[in-house]
Amino acid sequence: MDRLVIRGGSPLNGEVEISGAKNCALPLMAATLIASGTHSFSNVPHLRDIRTMQSLLAHMGATSRHDNMLQIDTSDIHTFEAPYDLVKTMRASVLVLGPLLARYRRARISLPGGCAIGARPINLHLKALQQMGVEIDLEHGYVVGQAKRLRGAVIAFEQVTVTGTENIMMAACLADGVTVLKNSAREPEVVALAEYLNLMGAQIEGAGTDEITVTGVRELSPSGCEVIPDRIEAGTYLVAAGMTGGALKLMRCRPDHLQAIIQKLIDAGLSIESNGDFIEVRRKGKIRSVNMETQPFPGFPTDMQAQFMALMALGSGVSMIKERIFENRFMHVLELQRMGADIDLDGRTAIVRGVKKLSGAPVMATDLRASASLVLSALAAEGVSEITRIYHLDRGYEAIEKKLSAVGATIERVSE
Ligand code: EPU
Repeated sequence: MDRLVIRGGSPLNGEVEISGAKNCALPLMAATLIASGTHSFSNVPHLRDIRTMQSLLAHMGATSRHDNMLQIDTSDIHTFEAPYDLVKTMRASVLVLGPLLARYRRARISLPGGCAIGARPINLHLKALQQMGVEIDLEHGYVVGQAKRLRGAVIAFEQVTVTGTENIMMAACLADGVTVLKNSAREPEVVALAEYLNLMGAQIEGAGTDEITVTGVRELSPSGCEVIPDRIEAGTYLVAAGMTGGALKLMRCRPDHLQAIIQKLIDAGLSIESNGDFIEVRRKGKIRSVNMETQPFPGFPTDMQAQFMALMALGSGVSMIKERIFENRFMHVLELQRMGADIDLDGRTAIVRGVKKLSGAPVMATDLRASASLVLSALAAEGVSEITRIYHLDRGYEAIEKKLSAVGATIERVSE
């Protein structure tokens, strides 16, 4: 198992190129199941989750090649199943449910079960599919869905769900009639998926608002598109500059997708300027402690909560951080405490009292974004940190040690 060894204390300076967003690429890859033939995507990051989705599609009969472009051929799909071994390593595997039901009207998907950040059920996906006429059974840990035809329905999600919105939007593309999704997720990744489905011939309106309307069509044909930049990776590098006291220019990103993050970091005392497709960040003076709560887009993303907490650990006062999306996304707190952070938990709120410095320590990554908060803390800490279980980090951050060492970090990957 690989680990990262980081000697902290060097301010980061220079340019970082932001990769394509995994949470955009994964639903696009699932969407290839709806239209038989070859789909091409550019700006797909080289990450473990992308390889897992390739394996899942291969299990169903698709072939794929990923060099500069990711090409997926779905001409020969023969299995309509997402097995437990793949779903347990990547929950986003449930994204194949909507496409399989749309095109083949049957699917067998392992139930994802719990994960490190909370219960994460898929009941809202299943309820919506039942409203569309899908018969759902639970057998031996698997969800088995089948339908003669999928029919349009008015679906009001009780809670905003990103992959739920994506799954149902895909299922509705080939359904009879019109499907209206109310209280749908407004994330940029949902918009990118809707744009790709429309490029394939779907009729989707309203993506990016809380009401999406899908008019079913007879069939879709394969096409290609570019994956949008990763707003969470960009946010993570903004915090890296803030915590180490450096200045970074992030290239190839979408500042308009990061408005809530940028505003919070400005409130925390960072100087941030953006234009077109880049963002420049600099630390001006002390880090100010500010309160934050996570929200669905366009609010502050839960996927940046751990990284923001690491920044607040070095704040000049007290910050209250409330996690409103996942009930248990605080696994990083114990590890940050081992590096000298002063954090108390009260239910869904973390009370972070800023300390003057963090100190390097051996720590363990528990999930993807928690790992990022440990890397950030290690970069700012005095002395050496060793981060184990970094396979979590490899799920979502492309070439992180290369990107960080190019801007002045002392970071090394050690393989055992
Ligand atoms: N929820 C339910 N029932 C459902 C669906 C969701 O109760 O059927 C609850 C969840 O338990 C959670 C809340 O609704 O409390 C929101 O979850 P959501 O469904 O939006 O999460 P997701 O679609 O499973 C995606 C991202 C996550 C990101 C969340 C929230 C992908 C592949 N994953 O997950 O990304 O944290 O939205 O923005 O897009 C990550 O990249 O590290 C990551 C975990």
